[in-house]
Amino acid sequence: LSTCELSGKTVLVTAGPTSEAIDPVRYITNHSTGKMGYAIAKAAIRKGAKVILVSGKTNLKPPLGLEKFLAVESTMDMYNAVVENLDGCDIIIKSAAVADYTPKTKSDKKIKKTEGELVLELQRNPDILFEIGKIKGDRILVGFAAETDDLMENAAKKIEKKNLDFIVANDITKEGAGFGVDTNIAKILYRDGSVIELEKMSKDELSEIILQKVAELSGK
Ligand code: PMT
Repeated sequence: LSTCELSGKTVLVTAGPTSEAIDPVRYITNHSTGKMGYAIAKAAIRKGAKVILVSGKTNLKPPLGLEKFLAVESTMDMYNAVVENLDGCDIIIKSAAVADYTPKTKSDKKIKKTEGELVLELQRNPDILFEIGKIKGDRILVGFAAETDDLMENAAKKIEKKNLDFIVANDITKEGAGFGVDTNIAKILYRDGSVIELEKMSKDELSEIILQKVAELSGK
């Protein structure tokens, strides 16, 4: 196995959750730990790429050998970090679990408890991958699909809508797949409908395969 399959390439990886502040105390987020994205970043470094890691809050240490590490909180922060670093990137891999909604208003003071219910109004965040898909040019764009139902149908819709080269679909209801664990069970779906079904394996092993597929597409 060549360790330099991606030398001369710049890879931007997003990892972890985004979180949306409700007030200075509370926020909305999801279960992503960043393990998948950090494993991808490490694998890309091993393959000789320059790696930019854009990460939501995690407990992980950024891997050694990164070109750039950008810590972000909200989806808007992640969107800006990705867009600002797009020039010069050859490959973008979006494994982050991005909050699709954000509170319509954010209070700068702690919201006080009252009797009765509290209604929180949410508005849509941008879909980062969709926006990048519109301007991808000859970059390779890889997304993830985290699904609980109709895994392949939903993944197929996302590959089309977001203009991806391929998508890594994981059924997060399966034991040993998705959030938090060190393993994943994935299917890689291409634009032409072809599918590679993968066994349960470590996130490191899966990352190696994802980057091999990227290297094949980038013609190295
Ligand atoms: O971090 P871990 O604990 O290791 O967990 C790994 C994981 C489950 C987070 C990972 O394997 C995974 O599936 N990541 C994608 C999670 C997700 O948000 O999927 P989605 O199907 O909602 O989104 C589809 C794609 O669009 C993703 O590439 C996502 O990054 C992107 N997206 C989604 C919404 C949005 N507003 N902007 C985006 O760019």
